[in-house]
Amino acid sequence: MSVSYSKENGIFRLDTANSTYAITVNEGYICHLYYGGRLCGNDDLRYLLENTGGPFRIQDNIRDKANAMDSLPFEYPCFNTGDYREHALEIRDSYGSFACDIKYVSHRIYNGKPETEGMPCSFEGEGKAQTLEINCLDEAVGLEVMLLYSVFENSDVIARSVVLKNCSEEKITLRRVFSASVDINRRDFDMITLNGSWARERLVSRSPLHMGKQSVDSIKGESSHQHNPFFALCSHNCDENTGEVYGFCLMYSGNFTAQAEVTQFGCTRALIGINPLLFEWSLEKGEHFTAPEALLTYSSEGLGGMSRSYHDFFRRHVIRSRYKYSERPVLINNWEATYFNFNTEKLLSIAREASKLGIEMLVMDDGWFGHRDSDNSSLGDWFVYKEKLGESLKPLVDEVNSLGMKFGIWIEPEMVSPDSELFRAHPDWALRIPNREMTMAREQYVLDFSRKEVRDCIYAQIKEILLSANIEYVKWDMNRPLTEVWSAELPPERQGEVSHRYVLGVYELMERLVTDFPDLLLENCSGGGGRFDGAMLYYSPQIWTSDDTDAKERIAIQYGTSLVYPPSAMGAHVSDCPNHLTGRTTPFETRGHVALSGTFGYELDVTKLSDNDKNMIPTQIAYYKKYSHLVREGDLYRLGNSANNGLWDCWMFVSKDKSEALLTYVQQYVTPNYPAPVIRLRGLDSDVVYDADGRALTGSALMNCGLAMEKLWGDYKSRLVHIKKK
Ligand code: GLA
Repeated sequence: MSVSYSKENGIFRLDTANSTYAITVNEGYICHLYYGGRLCGNDDLRYLLENTGGPFRIQDNIRDKANAMDSLPFEYPCFNTGDYREHALEIRDSYGSFACDIKYVSHRIYNGKPETEGMPCSFEGEGKAQTLEINCLDEAVGLEVMLLYSVFENSDVIARSVVLKNCSEEKITLRRVFSASVDINRRDFDMITLNGSWARERLVSRSPLHMGKQSVDSIKGESSHQHNPFFALCSHNCDENTGEVYGFCLMYSGNFTAQAEVTQFGCTRALIGINPLLFEWSLEKGEHFTAPEALLTYSSEGLGGMSRSYHDFFRRHVIRSRYKYSERPVLINNWEATYFNFNTEKLLSIAREASKLGIEMLVMDDGWFGHRDSDNSSLGDWFVYKEKLGESLKPLVDEVNSLGMKFGIWIEPEMVSPDSELFRAHPDWALRIPNREMTMAREQYVLDFSRKEVRDCIYAQIKEILLSANIEYVKWDMNRPLTEVWSAELPPERQGEVSHRYVLGVYELMERLVTDFPDLLLENCSGGGGRFDGAMLYYSPQIWTSDDTDAKERIAIQYGTSLVYPPSAMGAHVSDCPNHLTGRTTPFETRGHVALSGTFGYELDVTKLSDNDKNMIPTQIAYYKKYSHLVREGDLYRLGNSANNGLWDCWMFVSKDKSEALLTYVQQYVTPNYPAPVIRLRGLDSDVVYDADGRALTGSALMNCGLAMEKLWGDYKSRLVHIKKK
């Protein structure tokens, strides 16, 4: 990897292992030249500006400058000065004007990776980084814009961010600050996004780009169940293994916009950043604002190549937890076992049975605090529910520890129930607008986390609980989106800041938690997978993927999630059947195989399980111990998808040294008189002889001819195949 600047041709180049990104300055404007496969040599790429549609040299045709502005590929497009395409930056100055126009001032290239102030961001971690900083200025208003690009050793991900500083005497209002914009001189792409709903998160959508704008976004105050802060642009022929793909992923957990626009001259402008709706930020003299980081990647090895780049990047440069590569305790969570109906004795009965089977941690889910017997009370009152659990958690935790198990709890710090001591004492601490009804969701309100005193009060309570007993795991939930976004602490002209300040507040509290409790295993959650984003991985090495634990549904959810996020971060549990959300019954074995491709745990009442199912638990845990390093550290190859072939799903994890792999095959539907598939494997070493399901075969045979699956008896049947160098 390297960052360079050629004085000869005025080109900035970011080279990663397999990609090149090139920028130049044209009449003062920062223009994008190229993003794609790695270039060798030092070609003068400025000729690429000639065919962009408008006049190339602006000063040769000043009477038509607007046309040039509307066709030049800008690195950070501005508004109301001739570029009519979607823009990255929009301001309101002291005249009330919306115009903006940035020009090159200076640049710096340095080793290392700067932090993104107050927000999660990538860091050098496992591999050095280099950074390009381009400083620009809108002279008319006195706004400095710093564009930041970092590249990393052994990675094809480029991290981009933007810092804006008000150097004028007057206030400047930021109305839109995207994190990245890339103008690609092609339009023959499909756009891939991850969409869904509660219990159906991150299902893959793919459609060809059309003229004009197409986008996904969130305005819910979280990254959301409906859309993920990610999109990809890929060639029409792109599949898992071949074809070109560009990935755009935002390290942000709040409102976002991810957009592609096909312009009049057949170019594609790709943008990602904070959603401009509900956003405005006042920059007083001397103040600055930092946009969240965007992670861009390019692969010529299809969607699989893009995913593996992102997985490695999150593991090497984003996840900080000491758990990231280590085995997670196999947990049992009581949510689907008991819902709110539990007490000390019930929890201990689950723990006693679980410990005999080899389960290593009991997680006490919702319902342990205040007087919470259903979802209509007590959020905000983070003290023990005495009638259920006694004066303190300590005796329960000690008892669980004495069984040889760890103990974890569920919390939902950002919320308050109307029926709570906290809300009665501080009704103004919830997000609300004066004289307007507060909209409830799940009979709860959202606390104003933009306010420090609110965060302090919640944190003090949670810290006390965590210090009261040996609590080694926390599931941080967020069960409703934001409404009536308004803060009692800010003046009217600053209310556009609340959504972003809320997210910064959440980050600040998570940072406090992981700093004070560095050994804590933190799992994020938001009504299932409503906040599964890169920023959350900075705090928690795992995120609850979805409330849908039906193995069949989970395959599709984990498949979509794996397009960007590492499987080692996907919370995945074996739950009871008929499944509580679908009524479907799938084999216990298959539920185990699917959960083994994530963090692995159980979410059922083990005291009520049939002996048959219960007897499988020690074997599943043994598989976890034997194979989970491949999930945590290996490379994922998606080999087949029942959404396409109608019959089966298959994926494999290959160790980095290619000596070992774990393949999971799920036969979704059994068809009579039809053979089982022969599946072509990926990622192995061609010359090496492997033991694959009892056969000695070279990697070359396994990848070109394939591995013959055996026909299984019945729907949703599955197999794990361990492949090992002989
Ligand atoms: C959310 C979570 C569940 C569970 C409940 C508790 O829905 O996704 O796993 O913790 O909250 O109320």
